[in-house]
Formats: sequence, structure tokens, C-alpha cells
Amino acid sequence: MGFFDKLFRSSTNKEEEQMANLNIGIILGSTREGRLSPQVGEWVKSLAEKRGDANYEIVDLKDFDLPFLGTTDGSEPGIAKWNEKIGSLDGFVFIVQEYNHSITGALKNAMDMAREAWFNKAAGIVSYGSVGGARAAEHLRGILSEQSIAHVRTHPALSLFTDFENGQTFKPAQMHEGTVNEMLEQLVSWAGALKTVR
Ligand SMILES: Cc1cc2nc3c(=O)[nH]c(=O)nc-3n(C[C@H](O)[C@H](O)[C@H](O)COP(=O)(O)O)c2cc1C
Repeated sequence: MGFFDKLFRSSTNKEEEQMANLNIGIILGSTREGRLSPQVGEWVKSLAEKRGDANYEIVDLKDFDLPFLGTTDGSEPGIAKWNEKIGSLDGFVFIVQEYNHSITGALKNAMDMAREAWFNKAAGIVSYGSVGGARAAEHLRGILSEQSIAHVRTHPALSLFTDFENGQTFKPAQMHEGTVNEMLEQLVSWAGALKTVR
């Protein structure tokens, strides 16, 4: 094998290794009783796992029991656990639901509960609502920018009317699978690139 072949091969291996080690959290943005976000998160995870390009896991805000920022001395174990979890991830898929044209208070609070742990990472958004959760997703983009999280362009937007039966049982239209994969393609590429910056 010639010098350039070896050089090329070692850089390709390095890229592959880096991609294989990427950890992506699928963050469920809602916490209310009867929420739909677990169905959407599991669907994204099942599509993501078929790709074999990163490790994907569900990150459920409910598991962290975060207090409302500023109302305690900050010693709750959930706060440290949340920061550790975010710190361990290279990228995020935010499962976003529209509440009064924005994201949930729970997600905003959770965003505010970490700082450096978010920096120089990448994110994709999957949203739902009466108009695909588009307004909430756009609000989230502003927050992500402030937290130095690079958010990818492709954004699957699910309709409460056509992608959920009776607004309850998730039955996504086939076309969304392609959009989720396109979003993940962009996310994995940016998450890998940003790992080199940290
Ligand atoms: C407090 C509240 C406000 C809402 N506001 C909107 C809204 O502005 N636009 C919209 O499309 N849907 C709105 N909805 C409907 C939610 O998007 C819908 O109930 C969705 O299932 C919520 O996500 P979840 O089931 O994961 O909690 C609202 C729901 C709640 C509970």
C-alpha cells in the first residue's frame, strides 16, 4: 500500500471510528400525564437505530425531576444527573410539542439548567402540533443558537390531525420517514464535525 493510500485509509478509519462513537440523545420535551412524546421519540429511535451511524438513546425529562430554576439551592441530584447526561452526548434530537406557540416550560427550564454541557454540539428537531409544531420549533432554534448548539435545517413536522389517530395514537404518514433520515444524516455529520471542536 502506498503512502497516500495509507494516509487516506487511516483518515477514513478515523472518521468511521468517530462516527461510530457518537452518542445522540432523543430528548422528550413534554412531561404531562398522557403526553404523546414517548410515541414520537420511540419512532425516531427505531428509524435512527436502523442507520447504524451512532448510538441513540431516549432522554426523558421526567426521569430527572428537575426543580424550577432558582427555586432551590441547586443541590437536587436530578440537576447534576441532567448535566452529566447532556455532557455525555454529542448531539440531540429534540422531540418538540407546541404549547402556546412555543416549547413546553419543562423543556425551557431543562435548557436553562445546563450551560457548558450543551456547547459546540449539534441538534435536529422533530415537532408536532396543529401546524406541525412549527412555531415551537422556531422558538427552540433561537434558544439553541444561544447555547452554541448547531441546529440542522431539515425538520420533520408532524400534524396532530393527520399523523395521530384521534389526536392520540401516533400513525405517522410514510413520507416523514425520509425527512427523519435526512435530518439524522445532517445531524450525525455536524455532531461528528463539532466533536473535533470541543
Ligand atoms: C398548555 C397547552 C398549550 C397548547 N398550545 C398549543 C398551540 O399553541 N399550538 C398547537 O398546535 N397545539 C397546542 N397544544 C396542543 C399540543 O400541541 C398537543 O396537546 C400535544 O399533544 C402536546 O404534546 P404532549 O402530548 O407530548 O404533551 C397545546 C397543549 C397544551 C397542553
